Amino acid sequence: MKLCLVCATGITPFIDFGSMPLGNGFLLPEQSGDEYRYRMQVGFCPECGMVQLLEQPDRERMFHDNYAFFSGTSRFMALHFQAFAEQVMNDFLPSGAPFVVEMGSNDGIMLQNFKAAGIRHLGIEPSKNVAQVAMDKGISTLTEFFSAELARRIVAEQGQADAFLAANVMCHIPYIHSIAEGISILLKPSGVVMFEDPYLGDVIEKTSYDQIYDEHTFLFSVGSVSNLFERYGMEVVDVQPQSTHGGSMRYVIAHRGARPVSPNVATQRMREERMGLSRPETYEQFRRNCESSRTQLMALLRDLKADGKRVVGYGATSKSTTITNYCGITPDLVEFISDTTPIKQGKVSPGAHIPVRPYEEFARNYPDYALLFAWNHSREIMEKEEAFRKSGGKWIVYVPEVAILG
Ligand code: SAH
Ligand code: TMP
Ligand code: ZN
Repeated sequence: MKLCLVCATGITPFIDFGSMPLGNGFLLPEQSGDEYRYRMQVGFCPECGMVQLLEQPDRERMFHDNYAFFSGTSRFMALHFQAFAEQVMNDFLPSGAPFVVEMGSNDGIMLQNFKAAGIRHLGIEPSKNVAQVAMDKGISTLTEFFSAELARRIVAEQGQADAFLAANVMCHIPYIHSIAEGISILLKPSGVVMFEDPYLGDVIEKTSYDQIYDEHTFLFSVGSVSNLFERYGMEVVDVQPQSTHGGSMRYVIAHRGARPVSPNVATQRMREERMGLSRPETYEQFRRNCESSRTQLMALLRDLKADGKRVVGYGATSKSTTITNYCGITPDLVEFISDTTPIKQGKVSPGAHIPVRPYEEFARNYPDYALLFAWNHSREIMEKEEAFRKSGGKWIVYVPEVAILG
């Protein structure tokens, strides 16, 4: 039996996706013979409430010198992180000369705002290719994995932090105890931690099972995050739902007693109770919902093929790896996936081996249907793609339900 990564209680899986490739493991067609795979199963810990992968590839397989995800590819995300940074500066940073640390700073999409404001900052980003983009913008960056040990070194060399920020990375890290301990060491007594990740409540409500892939060790809730940080003398003082990545939660955390606790925390925990997030039956139902979503999507794609329609994927997201492999979508059902990221183009998608082509190929010869794999960016994409719709093109979506938008 596997043990909970947070509290070491034995847990059993509620969903088993079988053998899966890496979500961001885009590969050259000639490499497709020896693709790495691992067993993707998800469990719920009845003791501490944490939803988690039971097995995960080594971190060096996921985060390295050729990491495929550049945060800056989405204009909306750049605006989102600008607003995030402004909230930190306006509401949380003391006057004087504050120090801001960000874990998983990627290409500097958040820290560029602190740099522009002349605020002392440090990014911690182990994937060297994306970190280089940030360093080229003049953003101070350490190309290492954050841990308790690194926190001690930063304190010794640069002092404690007023704010510790993280977006879409806390939930990636199985050695979460070292991270929480590191934060408690690095953070000033009056400091604030703010991080956001895809929210378990949204995943359950929308059956957005594509949030489950190798990098997403955890699906957090306010309950499970509170349990985790309480072990390190900290507490959740506010929670703020976000629309990014299909529904995320921003957690504001401080040393226990250092800051007033907003009533939002208790309200959201009550909502989580009502959603059934602490009951195993909720996860059994989620599995059935995933199965039925898969059946519907495959029936639709097969019908369209039988009718001779062209279907192209839009956005070679890491999430789409879960969809294509779990559903069994093959290149004869989806001709190619259009993506604007150069490092993904000319490759094939992990496991399903659907070709990834530059966006221009989509625009040059519109398909009948576009399967919206980047559904979390749908507002931005729908705005951009008016011409596709006007020319008679239709969107296929699968969150919260399989549907055609036209
Ligand atoms: N914050 C950005 C990037 C998220 S992708 C955004 O929200 O768009 C997650 C990033 O975290 C990757 O760039 C990865 O290299 C980095 N990462 C993974 N483990 C880490 C760790 N232990 N410490 C710091 N960064 C880490
Ligand atoms: P994400 O869902 O992990 O943010 O990844 C989004 C992917 O979709 C990324 O590879 C870039 C791609 N993309 C496009 O190709 N076109 C777009 O308009 C947007 C917003 C993203
Ligand atoms: Zn647990």
